[in-house]
Amino acid sequence: MRDLWNREIDYIRISVTDRCNLRCVYCMPEEGIESISHDRILTFDEIARICRVMAQSGLKKIKLTGGEPLIRRGIVSLVRQLKEVPGIEQVTLTTNGILLEEMADDLVSSGIDAVTVSLDTLDRERFRQMTRRDELPRVLEGIRAMRRHPQIPLKINCLLQEPEKDLLAVADLARTQPIHVRFIEVMPIGYGRQMKFVKEERLRELLMKHYGTLTPCGDVLGNGPAVYFSLEGFQGKIGFISAVSHKFCNSCNRVRLTSDGFLKTCLQYDTGVRLKEPMQAGCSDEELASLIAQAIREKPVGHEFDKKGLVAGEEVRTMSQIGG
Ligand code: GTP
Ligand code: 5AD
Ligand code: SF4
Repeated sequence: MRDLWNREIDYIRISVTDRCNLRCVYCMPEEGIESISHDRILTFDEIARICRVMAQSGLKKIKLTGGEPLIRRGIVSLVRQLKEVPGIEQVTLTTNGILLEEMADDLVSSGIDAVTVSLDTLDRERFRQMTRRDELPRVLEGIRAMRRHPQIPLKINCLLQEPEKDLLAVADLARTQPIHVRFIEVMPIGYGRQMKFVKEERLRELLMKHYGTLTPCGDVLGNGPAVYFSLEGFQGKIGFISAVSHKFCNSCNRVRLTSDGFLKTCLQYDTGVRLKEPMQAGCSDEELASLIAQAIREKPVGHEFDKKGLVAGEEVRTMSQIGG
């Protein structure tokens, strides 16, 4: 699947639910958002069908996200179902980690290829402020449970608001354990617009001061836009996902599927095609493939996060509805 800019699309991020058991300040309001009713959510068979049709045109990698993907009932069986789709090489998951302790073994048995846990601070009080829930201990238990499966790559996503307080403690996870820690620049989407912007450069300076040189790491770790570095004495790598200061749209390999069945072709815009209704109306696989191919061809060239004010066609969904 190629778009008009000659980018090969082989990766889909599937938001399996818009619900979540946290309320991160950059993602959702305190009261949550009105959830999509069950009958409007894609069924597992619909998700698997979309993946099967796309895999016939080159889809290889699937990321399951949310909201919080582990609160969707039966998620383990979805992983198994997607792993069986011909052509799919990897199914990975990005989770807040709360339910990982109880689900890690089943996820691994179902064939999950990698797990990323979002964790913005190791300080219990700041965790409570960032997520509006006192769940840090369970997240840490979840990480511990995944560590019992060292063959499954484990990563942390960290979105820092107070680098002086949190950066070194989170980075230290990669020093003391074989975990890759990625620092994410907040993007101006939904509640992300209200957050303090912390540039990658500042984090690099702080890390260098404390740990020494950051050596660019040639290895490909995962399927995303993260750029990785090695540090002396570290077991895992340190990565940066800096959509604002290091725009990576020209190598974008992905589209998104929202839990109510919208194939979304760029994070920033409301561009794409609805797939649930055509499937409910009985469209053929060929018709489905053609809707998808047309939407992918017209994938926007990239975001305009640097533009001040309103951008035409800008997304109105929150990150919890998009899946990051
Ligand atoms: P892996 O490295 O394979 O784990 O994939 P990933 O980094 O794409 O996955 P993850 O779900 O951990 O996402 C990490 C961060 O990257 C999140 O903040 C996402 O919102 C962001 N991100 C993922 N894809 C894109 C993209 O296409 N564009 C932009 N601007 N940000 C993205
Ligand atoms: N900007 C950047 N990353 C975000 N995430 C959620 N909202 C934003 C935002 N506005 C991240 C979460 C999670 C991943 C799926 O997306 O921290 O790790
Ligand atoms: Fe939930 Fe993830 Fe949004 Fe936090 S960022 S509220 S964990 S969906």
